[in-house]
Amino acid sequence: MSENRKVFVKTYGCQMNVYDSERMVAALGPTGYTQTDRVEDADMILLNTCHIREKAAEKVYSELGRLKPLKRDNPDLVIGVAGCVAQAEGEEILRRQPLVDLVVGPQAYHRLPALEQAARAGAKPVDTEFPEEDKFSHLPRGPKMRRAPSAFLTVQEGCDKFCAFCVVPYTRGAEVSRPAERILDEARDLVDRGVREITLLGQNVNAYHGPASGGEWSLAQLIGALADIDGLLRIRFTTSHPNDMQDDLIEAFGSSEKLMPYLHLPVQSGSDRILKAMNRRHTAQNYIDLIERIRTARPDLLLSGDFIVGFPGETEADFQDTLRLVEAVGYGQAYSFKYSARPGTPAAERDEVSDVDKTDRLARLQALLSAQQKAAQEAMVGREVKVLFEKTGRQSGQLVGKSEYLHAVHATCDSARIGAVVPVRITSAAPNSLAGEVI
Ligand code: 5AD
Ligand code: SF4
Repeated sequence: MSENRKVFVKTYGCQMNVYDSERMVAALGPTGYTQTDRVEDADMILLNTCHIREKAAEKVYSELGRLKPLKRDNPDLVIGVAGCVAQAEGEEILRRQPLVDLVVGPQAYHRLPALEQAARAGAKPVDTEFPEEDKFSHLPRGPKMRRAPSAFLTVQEGCDKFCAFCVVPYTRGAEVSRPAERILDEARDLVDRGVREITLLGQNVNAYHGPASGGEWSLAQLIGALADIDGLLRIRFTTSHPNDMQDDLIEAFGSSEKLMPYLHLPVQSGSDRILKAMNRRHTAQNYIDLIERIRTARPDLLLSGDFIVGFPGETEADFQDTLRLVEAVGYGQAYSFKYSARPGTPAAERDEVSDVDKTDRLARLQALLSAQQKAAQEAMVGREVKVLFEKTGRQSGQLVGKSEYLHAVHATCDSARIGAVVPVRITSAAPNSLAGEVI
């Protein structure tokens, strides 16, 4: 087997995929692969795909079409499709695009070395099985390479909520929490490599209930144990469901110095009728009350959310309820989407709101959310924030990092401070970033 082979990974979608892409590269390491960011140098190309919203599969097929010339020039090139489109489409991918050599679902990445070998031998392996144990537990630990100051760490995967619009319970499977000790080991290893901030990832991360010494830990207990790691300065988590926001987690926002005051808590709609049809299992008022409780624990919390407009059956009155909820809650940041029917989900058979109405509602919702975000950004001017500097900025002498509220902040600062938390006075605000001066 030749050494020094190169793998190029293209990542679509969420932070979980970013994390998984890193794991895929790590899993391939012992077989002689290192990562390249030049696709033309690759011996293997992996597309780590996303299926959450519309036309994901189509995008993957057109990207695969663009790889044809590379495969023609290098017949030994192995092309693999990973991620949620791989999970959802399986064999169909091989039928539709013969240049694909392997298909691997999100639960099978630890088997990539064997799949790659099988692909080289001419088989076209498709592995979309769900493993019985932690898929990354036997990952080789390579040489202690330095890491950027902020890293992701997956603590749970899958989801049992079955929101009527969502493919996650099908592509990522049932909710599974990783054992706490494995997570703590991985976190200590990251900190040894220079990581100062860890974002705990899971499709429904606050449902975390991992096996631990003395039984089972909640996410708050896990955060408590992570906070004891010297050198780890900041902890975040994403994405959460309102119904899994347990009391101990709410308290942690008030009591844990390392848990940052930022929360991404999707509500999707402000209409009780639509929330019910979405199978969200809570009302708009439940959500508003919950946010109030979290803000009592942590008054300066910056809240982020996700919204869907045009869910089947959504009327103008339902949409007005969503606008009202946004007004009542106030977001510092948010994502909003037009509903798109996902094959296999309960809502898929119905797509009743016209695209004209969806486009119109999305524009009105985004105008409101942008205005809230702008106001929140501008309110930071004159304030002091603590910035974890992550890298050099575009202008010379400048560093870029994140405030405790996850604002991107630029400031002139010595590059020796990358990886340090530095007090910064904010001097100006742009829609998606802040500028400041080191105090
Ligand atoms: N249509 C539109 N948006 C969707 N999302 C998930 N599924 C769909 C869908 N079928 C959005 C939700 C979720 C985010 C990750 O993507 O808002 O919170
Ligand atoms: Fe999908 Fe999130 Fe609902 Fe789970 S809680 S089904 S991941 S939208």
